[in-house]
Amino acid sequence: MNNLFKFTKHSLFIISCLFWMVISCRQNEQKKSTIEPVLFAENIAPIIFKNCSKCHLDGEAAPFSLLTYNDIAPKAKLIEYVISHKIMPPWPADADYTHFANETVLSGEEIELIRKWITDGLLPGDTAHLKSNEQIKKVLNLGKPDLIVKSPQPFKVSGNNQDLFLVVKMPYEIPKDTFVRAIEFVPGNKRLVHHMNAHLLQYDPTKKSNLFDGKYWVNQNQSNSQLVHKELNLMQDDDTYPPMTPSVCNYLPGAQFSFYPKEIGGYPISRKGAFYLNDLHFGPTPFDALDSSYFKVYYNATPPKRPVSEFQIGTLGITPVEPTLIIPANEKKTFHIKFNVPQDISVISIIPHMHLIGKTYWAYAIKPGGDTIRLIRIPQWDFRWQYFYQPKTLLKIPMGSTIYVEGTYDNTTANPENPFNPPRLIRERNGSMRTTDEMFQLIITYVPYKKGDEAISLENIEP
Ligand code: HEC
Repeated sequence: MNNLFKFTKHSLFIISCLFWMVISCRQNEQKKSTIEPVLFAENIAPIIFKNCSKCHLDGEAAPFSLLTYNDIAPKAKLIEYVISHKIMPPWPADADYTHFANETVLSGEEIELIRKWITDGLLPGDTAHLKSNEQIKKVLNLGKPDLIVKSPQPFKVSGNNQDLFLVVKMPYEIPKDTFVRAIEFVPGNKRLVHHMNAHLLQYDPTKKSNLFDGKYWVNQNQSNSQLVHKELNLMQDDDTYPPMTPSVCNYLPGAQFSFYPKEIGGYPISRKGAFYLNDLHFGPTPFDALDSSYFKVYYNATPPKRPVSEFQIGTLGITPVEPTLIIPANEKKTFHIKFNVPQDISVISIIPHMHLIGKTYWAYAIKPGGDTIRLIRIPQWDFRWQYFYQPKTLLKIPMGSTIYVEGTYDNTTANPENPFNPPRLIRERNGSMRTTDEMFQLIITYVPYKKGDEAISLENIEP
């Protein structure tokens, strides 16, 4: 009985194995007939255009173009490596926490598809139907600006391994007063330009006879600010200051430009004016370099309807970092910033900022009723990629909410980004923006909330 039972169990096992093999063979046959080889034009190009090409384009940050089959196929192995290790596309924000407009993040399926394209033999597919290089570049380079404002002299950066801070004037004269929709800063040397804040000086045309007199830039540490303004000849003829529109354009490492929806932002500009950069910061470099960063200005036919405002909290901001941002050598420390939102706002962009030894960044708001609004989480801070993150649609934060920001810093030798070895005390220092000092900030740009804002998309806005 016992033996018989064993025998039956054994044969049942064999029979069920055979049965399973037959079934799975048939299933495989069916699968084979439905899985088609992955083709470049049909399957891969759309992924690359969306996630890679805006930087991998002549004149952009990356060292080579990724636009055509001939650009991409020879680099397939390297591409597989960088996407598998999440080195590219650079996107420090945690996409499992919040999604943003125009985010460049590859899904697991997209990575698998690129791998399969490689194992299938890099098949080109019907490339004749792809947009031409020129068409793609046009889309990626956005609109044609109405005005380009450049410094008449390039900036000189000396290779002394020190940060360089310039105060800059970039004057312009146009035929008539008009309205501006957007201003884009185009960094010349993307590896060196660290950050920039631009304000717009709006001269009374009758009070400024020569816009182009004086120096175009001076070293920020050289002298006091009044002297700097004199050297730049910023004043009007009667020695009064011209009206200034503050913070018309900002830049951080790796930041990408995008338009706001047509009904949002903008301001009038005078026919005689100048960009005033109180801070054009170049990071340290061992090589002498010239930089020709410039502005692209896009006009608007009509006056602005909803001007954009911003608030900055943390270092140099309206609420402090707690405790004071001091990270002793060989320590890891956590800091907080808190802010009570005084009115209903619609958030347009969320701009986290830290320097080299920042490790993690997390911001959210708690509504008066206790619900949480997720803002951003960055599990592995990366100084190289500091974006102006835009929610997919305008994001309402109601009056009375509290924004909380938590940041951690690692000042040990275990942190490969530590600029000092052995580690030294690093701190925020009188608002010093030197890369080797630290900062902890959140900047939010917004418009006062209006009913229906939640439906206004910030994705792929046309010029
Ligand atoms: C935000 C801009 C940006 C985006 C988006 C981007 N890259 Fe890059 N990429 C760069 C820069 C800049 C470099 C140069 C290396 C560096 O500075 O880190 C680079 C380098 C590379 C390299 C060379 C790496 C090496 O070690 O030589 C590869 C390969 C690459 N990128 C592939 C991609 C792919 C594939 C995508 C899209 C899935 C992508 N990149 C998206 C900016 C970008």
